[in-house]
Formats: sequence, structure tokens, C-alpha cells
Amino acid sequence: MTPNTCFNAHVLTLFPEMFPGTLGIALAGKALEKKIWSLNTINIRDFATGVHKSVDDTPYGGGAGMVMRPDVVGRAIETLPENTPLYYLSPRGQPLTQKKVKELAKNDSIGLLCGRYEGLDERVLKHYNITEISIGDYVLSGGEVAAQVILDAILRLREGFMGDQTSLNQESFENNLLEYPQYTRPNVWKNLSVPEILLSGHHEKIEQWRQKCSEELTKERRPDLWAKTTEIK
Ligand SMILES: C[S@@+](CC[C@H](N)C(=O)[O-])C[C@H]1O[C@@H](n2cnc3c(N)ncnc32)[C@H](O)[C@@H]1O
Repeated sequence: MTPNTCFNAHVLTLFPEMFPGTLGIALAGKALEKKIWSLNTINIRDFATGVHKSVDDTPYGGGAGMVMRPDVVGRAIETLPENTPLYYLSPRGQPLTQKKVKELAKNDSIGLLCGRYEGLDERVLKHYNITEISIGDYVLSGGEVAAQVILDAILRLREGFMGDQTSLNQESFENNLLEYPQYTRPNVWKNLSVPEILLSGHHEKIEQWRQKCSEELTKERRPDLWAKTTEIK
């Protein structure tokens, strides 16, 4: 990644009106205005032909629902700029993790293909050698929300997006640990006090306390992550 290079997102969707969606407000929205990133939505429907402009058809072999046609989706994909890394949002894909997000954020562009209905004709994935990414073990009705999740996670790692990039180093999943608890003013609220140590001004002890909290939380809530931390040690 070259410093301050614009990150170009290309989203292939049947519902371009769902974008920028959540990415049009707050930090992502401001960054879009400042051209820290750009958004190109490609309406898959524009590539349908025939009287009915169908984008889907019934599945070969029978079964419920409709499948997105490879010829229509293929034509949409072929409008992407050369060498754009392309991913298909899919519950069958590689699970999205912070490690994967960091890898994706190293590129200066991304193509995200959003499925609908029962999904996409398998030949599209094979022909264009597309990697599938899942945002979790549940089924959404379309890939658009998943695409926004991925873009949000990538954008906050890009230079110029956050005021203070150093806060990224202490977040959940860094070193496979969950973040320690955070507090702010007032120091007593509904009879609950901020832990004394945080008011002490003793930076080294505060660091130790935060590290201990992170470890305890991870052990308790995410034994899978904790196991990775101990493997690394
Ligand atoms: C109703 S789903 C299709 C589910 C598919 N029939 C299956 O069982 O794997 C429609 C579209 O939503 C998107 N989608 C659903 N769940 C997702 C997830 N967990 N992660 C990423 N994309 C998802 C995909 O693009 C998918 O093609």
C-alpha cells in the first residue's frame, strides 16, 4: 500500500441503491467525500439481455429458489478494471477474521460480488477463480450487507481514515486477545466506580492491569483465541 493512495471498491450487486448505505455516514462517509476511498457500484441487471432481462433462472436438478445466471454475472465481472482482486460473499467462504482484513487492506482495490436468491452459478467462481468470503455462520438474504461489513473493516485500517492510527494496535484480535474494558467520565455512575488503577496515573501499572484483563476476558469468552495465544508463546 502506497501512503494515502485512494482505495477503490467495486461492488457488483442487483441492488446498487443499497450503497453506500452505512458507509455513507460517519468516518467512512467523510473518507468517501475526501476521496480516501472510492465506490463504484456495478448493477448486474444492466448486463441482462432478452425481453425479460432475467438475471436468474431455476436450478438444474431441481430444488427451491433461483440461481444467478453465469452469462449475466460474467458480463458484469468483465467490466472490472484489470487485476482487481475479486471476492464473492458467501456463507460457504473462508471466515472473515481481522488477519484476513489486514491482508485485504494491503491492496489498493477490491471487487465484491454480492449474491442473491440461492446464490451464483458455480461456473462463475471456477472460470474467474474467485475466492469466497463469509462474514459468519449464518445466512443473510444477500451479499450487500456482508460487502459493507468487509469494506468498513478494511477502510479503518487504511492510512488517513482514522485520526489516531495508534488506537488500532490495542484493539480486539491484536495478538489474538480481546480488548480490556474501557471507562470514561463521570468516575462514579449509578454507584459504579471506575477501577482505581485507571485514576492512578501510573502508566506501567495501568498497562499491566489492561493486559491481565485482556487475558482473562479472552480465556473466559474465547477459549479458541486463547489457545492460539498460548501456542504463539
Ligand atoms: C440466501 S443467500 C444464499 C445461501 C446459499 N443458498 C447457501 O445455502 O449457501 C444469498 C446470498 O447472500 C449472501 N450471503 C448470505 N450469507 C452470507 C454470509 N454469511 N457471508 C457472506 N455472504 C452471505 C451471499 O452472497 C449469497 O449468495
